[in-house]
Amino acid sequence: MTKRAFVFSSSAAHSLSPAMQGAAFAALGLDARYEAVGLEERELPEAVAGLRANDVYGANITIPHKVAVMPLLDELTPQAQAVGAVNTVINRGGTLIGHNTDASGFARALLEDAGYDAESRDTVMLGAGGSARAVGLALLRAGATLGIYNRTLEKAEDLVAALERYGNVGLIRPPDLDRAVLRASLVVNTTSVGHETYAAAASPLRAGVLPRELVVDIIYRPPETPLLRAAAAAGLETQNGLAMLVYQGAEAFTLWTGQDAPVAAMFGALRAALE
Ligand code: ATR
Repeated sequence: MTKRAFVFSSSAAHSLSPAMQGAAFAALGLDARYEAVGLEERELPEAVAGLRANDVYGANITIPHKVAVMPLLDELTPQAQAVGAVNTVINRGGTLIGHNTDASGFARALLEDAGYDAESRDTVMLGAGGSARAVGLALLRAGATLGIYNRTLEKAEDLVAALERYGNVGLIRPPDLDRAVLRASLVVNTTSVGHETYAAAASPLRAGVLPRELVVDIIYRPPETPLLRAAAAAGLETQNGLAMLVYQGAEAFTLWTGQDAPVAAMFGALRAALE
């Protein structure tokens, strides 16, 4: 029986997951297919019901369906509850389990690929959207001392309140941003500033304002954002969003198939798809 997995997003065309997960199935010789499905929110209940079929591993869920999918599932893992969103659905014999691999994917990328241990390190996170919640959670679980800055102050305040019980987190107000960044070891950008859909080459930080060791941008299109370019030029370590993307997918792959994910094949497929 050919197994199936899906990604549910707003538009089937944009997702890189089919290339990455398809390469993973192929690398292990699994008889399985991975398909992108573009859906509107009102189509979600029927699509989710289809995941209960016995030839289905499950699905990845991307923007904008990560929250709307939650009430349609049978169980939520503690990770999905902590992030407040589901990016992976697992079909266990007709029972649908909602999980989230974004925080663990970010944590693995930081530790394994950047070789960075965030324990007790001053960290600034830029942004307070959906991705920021997963990244902030991962940083606090890794023991970072975290400051959150966002263009819209109230959203940063809400995120600080939501994350407070996971560790040492505080709000950074606009006049304090430069000082907080200069003192920090690590800055993580979770805003969309620097994404290729931005017309102007923009960095979320003022020129010359950088942390002491590492800059991570969870954007991978382009592979080097203006922020990462500035950081590299200043001699800092840098990491883009590719590793987070691979590791969140690798964990989903393992939950579906029960096998170790072939991450080298997944990195290769993504790099090829991005070129
Ligand atoms: P995602 O799911 O990718 O995190 P999101 O939830 O829409 O996307 O969050 C986007 C983030 O980028 C937010 O922190 C947003 O800031 P606001 O809360 O002020 O909207 C930030 N962002 C987007 N465009 C921005 C810009 N031009 N300048 C600064 N921040 C921006």
